[in-house]
Amino acid sequence: MSLKMSAVTHIPVLLDEAIEALAVQPGGRYIDCTLGAGGHAAAILERSSPGGQLLGIDADPEAIKVASARLEACKDSALLVNDNFAHLQSICLKYDFFPVHGILLDLGLSSLQLASNERGFSFQHDAPLDMRFSPTQEITAADIINTFPESKLTHIIKEYGEEDYSHQIVRRIIQKRPIRTTLHLAKIIEQAVGGRRGRIHPATRTFQALRIAVNQELEHLPSVLKQALSLLGFEGRLVVISYHSLEDRIVKQFMQRESKGCICPPQAPVCVCDHIACLRPVNKRVITPSAAEVEFNPRSRSAKLRAAERITIEDDYHKAAEGLCWAMDVEAEGWRRPSLLKKLRVAFSAPQLN
Ligand SMILES: C[S@@+](CC[C@H](N)C(=O)[O-])C[C@H]1O[C@@H](n2cnc3c(N)ncnc32)[C@H](O)[C@@H]1O
Repeated sequence: MSLKMSAVTHIPVLLDEAIEALAVQPGGRYIDCTLGAGGHAAAILERSSPGGQLLGIDADPEAIKVASARLEACKDSALLVNDNFAHLQSICLKYDFFPVHGILLDLGLSSLQLASNERGFSFQHDAPLDMRFSPTQEITAADIINTFPESKLTHIIKEYGEEDYSHQIVRRIIQKRPIRTTLHLAKIIEQAVGGRRGRIHPATRTFQALRIAVNQELEHLPSVLKQALSLLGFEGRLVVISYHSLEDRIVKQFMQRESKGCICPPQAPVCVCDHIACLRPVNKRVITPSAAEVEFNPRSRSAKLRAAERITIEDDYHKAAEGLCWAMDVEAEGWRRPSLLKKLRVAFSAPQLN
């Protein structure tokens, strides 16, 4: 299958590793929760051909436009949805897109968003302090900078930005409010920390922290992981690429917890949790980019990939979701093809409900 390339400048990170971890197979059904410029999605469609299907989600309408152009040649196999992955379950229910063989999350922002002159993600261009992935979101970076109290702003910059100079930066921000543009904010931060220190620009960490806060990235991640679990078929794979230590910790702890049979505190004399292990880690260690990838694409340097496989489909929600899928009054064409459902039923050995 040939995939038409548009003028895409985002280089997909850990591409081969992600495809391998997803165990992409012909005829499989996959969700890319962070479509971006469609780099991973294109590879998934290529590897799952013939018969593969992809649901691609992105909160950013611009990303959907770019990815649609890129995936034009596969448009019959790809359904692209402009929404937040925090709504993953309802999106899948709406399009009858479950259970699936694999779900990918490649977190954070794309190089296209970073390079945009208007979105305010970067202090390389002067732009309004926006940083929203979606224009439908209410709170912008300017709202946070100009209205949040000192303690809340310090928490964001210290925790999400892992910034040692958070107090100095916030004190200076509060003195200089209102702050409307990226370059104005970058200058204030530079002054607050007394000029450049080390290789990275002193505003880098604060900008990262603001983006995480604006897009509620650390709130949406645990939610989407939980939802993903209920959409995976037996032996379906969950693959997450993260770029921030707090995100990686959430993913690691989620996969560890869901791989355990009992999650009672160690001092509990008998198990009372009734927890069932429903994941199996695919790799013993976290996967990071090779030196060659980092040299070719420096943006990949902080990437961490974790993958797990669904080993049981025993929880109630999953049973109900599968039941809904098989009992659905399917149409002859499009996303509800009976032949596809039949194939999936065999693939997942799912119970057939009448
Ligand atoms: C690193 S990029 C993905 C790049 C993509 N894998 C590729 O190969 O082109 C992350 C994308 O996820 C999107 N994104 C981040 N958080 C999201 C969320 N909560 N819901 C939907 N999309 C989100 C961003 O808008 C961005 O386009």
